[in-house]
Amino acid sequence: MANMWGGRFNKKTNPLVEKFTKSIQFDKKLAEYDCVGSIAHAKMLSKCNVIPKKDAAKIVSGLNFILSRIKKGSFKIDSNAEDIHTVIQNALDKKIGNSGGMLHTARSRNDQVSLATRMYCKKEIDSIAAFLKGLKGSIKGFAKKNIDVIVPGFTHLQNAQPVLLSHQMLAYCEMLGRDIDRLNDCKKRLDVLPLGSCAISGTSLAIDRNFTAKELGFSKVSSNSMDAVSDRDFVIEIISGLAILGMHLSRMSEDFIILNSQGFGILDIGDEFCTGSSMMPQKKNPDVLELVRGKCGSLYGSLVEVATIMKGLPLAYNRDMQLDKEPLFKSIEIIESSLEVLTALFKSLKVNKDRAAELLQDESIYATDIMEYLVKKGIPLKVSHDIAGKIVAYGLQRKLKLSEISLREYRFFSSKFNKDVYALLDAKESVSLKNSFGGTSQKQVRKQLKHA
Ligand code: ARG
Repeated sequence: MANMWGGRFNKKTNPLVEKFTKSIQFDKKLAEYDCVGSIAHAKMLSKCNVIPKKDAAKIVSGLNFILSRIKKGSFKIDSNAEDIHTVIQNALDKKIGNSGGMLHTARSRNDQVSLATRMYCKKEIDSIAAFLKGLKGSIKGFAKKNIDVIVPGFTHLQNAQPVLLSHQMLAYCEMLGRDIDRLNDCKKRLDVLPLGSCAISGTSLAIDRNFTAKELGFSKVSSNSMDAVSDRDFVIEIISGLAILGMHLSRMSEDFIILNSQGFGILDIGDEFCTGSSMMPQKKNPDVLELVRGKCGSLYGSLVEVATIMKGLPLAYNRDMQLDKEPLFKSIEIIESSLEVLTALFKSLKVNKDRAAELLQDESIYATDIMEYLVKKGIPLKVSHDIAGKIVAYGLQRKLKLSEISLREYRFFSSKFNKDVYALLDAKESVSLKNSFGGTSQKQVRKQLKHA
């Protein structure tokens, strides 16, 4: 296959070099975008009379033919070619003859590859945002259905205070909402047309970059050609947004793994989303969640990979930049497949209410309520905290639950205690008292549901 360069060389490229430098094995993913970008470029060259109209028309129809083949999956890609840009140029030359050679006027692969990558990123951000909305929808559905279920909330994975399970679920919705915002924010910044920057310095030919931008739906054109051909911030930004998103999915998975384990048993993942053991016949394992958690490692890896590739590069284009694509593609693939399977898994989740009630037997989770009871009676927080702590310790020593300690004993710690203290030792009561904005009372959680 012919390369897009070669005139100045006296010797054929060593096959080892060809093998080592090619990117076709991964950048073939950009085929469609490369074609669409080239079609807009050819139209612009024609409109500006940089190339004859009849040649431009041939180029456009040739590229449309190639594009339809790519979409059908019948476009042959030579795995020995240098990259996808070379493959498409060669296919065009073969189809339309000499006119094909005019397509690369006023551009270089340096701006061309940045264009295709940006177009790909814009599309994938939209698709990930749609996946995220789907997952948020599943979470909201679950939260609504189980609005009254109370579970112990944890800090340090120790019983902390009772919370609505739906409150916990909606916490994930908040995270995912920020992830959508972050990706959309990346999209705004990468929505800049690099084409026309050429290899490094722009061109002496009278092109109209705004025309190309409009054709391709870019809202701006880049204002510095050296920056445009060597900027990979947008790749790093997306990968970093995906790393954060992956961290959220990993935390969510970890929570489900814990809540689904025998020790907690609050959640039950559908059989169809679990796997078994070849040795222990009784096992039902949450492998899907473990893999979502594990793949977060690759997402972080991608981020470190591209950030490191870029850190020492002098202006402008360097071949190192070709190595941004595999980590980018990998991160996107991991996120999309994780979101897809998690959304489905979510719908299979069942709540074990009896088990949740059992875990709420530990009445020490009401210690904070007792503390705030005293605060409401005018005792300074520090003192109230101390009293509530001493009552918990007293109960532990005597193997008494908080409800088994008599009022006389309560009064021994503070004269402010009355019979009504026992009403606090109830999960429903405890939850409904947390009615501060964003708290776990049903009223607040219903508000959150609406807002989510
Ligand atoms: N395959 C290359 C890449 O992805 C295309 C750009 C090649 N440019 C160059 N000056 N060699 O970066």
